[in-house]
Amino acid sequence: MHWGKDQDLSVLFVCLGNICRSPMAEGAFRAAAEKIGLKVHTDSVGTAGYHVGENPDPRAVHVARQHGVDISAARGRQLADEDFTAFTHILALDTANLAGIKARAPRIRKAELGLLLNVFEGRNDGSVPDPYYGDESDFAECWDQISEATEELANQLKQQDESSNA
Ligand code: 4NP
Repeated sequence: MHWGKDQDLSVLFVCLGNICRSPMAEGAFRAAAEKIGLKVHTDSVGTAGYHVGENPDPRAVHVARQHGVDISAARGRQLADEDFTAFTHILALDTANLAGIKARAPRIRKAELGLLLNVFEGRNDGSVPDPYYGDESDFAECWDQISEATEELANQLKQQDESSNA
């Protein structure tokens, strides 16, 4: 994946409901970025509007807290047209939501669109499974998958930031 230069980094994570995977991804990425001193603005949204204004699912809040990350203040928001010009990177948690993002993306936009799991070259099977209809163990697995990918993402962005400033 190639990341843009010469502009402040901003990453938007997108899932379906914006109460499980994308708030977890935002929290994990924020923590990983802070750890390595990467300056980046973050947010998360859903392609659907079912949970607008709601806090993340308690199981997502719980698993994040177990890893020292507080996502309890997040509020569900639906993807908006402005997001395509406000963010440098819009990353979907699964292929269905990437298709939904692409279907409504304006041709003139700032954001690069992609899949979070494509940070791993050659391992891009694409989707973080939706844990919403699962149990706590599904949320634990989801966290592990997301935190590994967001840590890699933070490292790649940091490297590119340093090489573009060199
Ligand atoms: P998320 O999970 O996309 O990871 O936030 C879901 C949350 C809610 C629903 C579906 C997926 N729902 O159908 O309400």
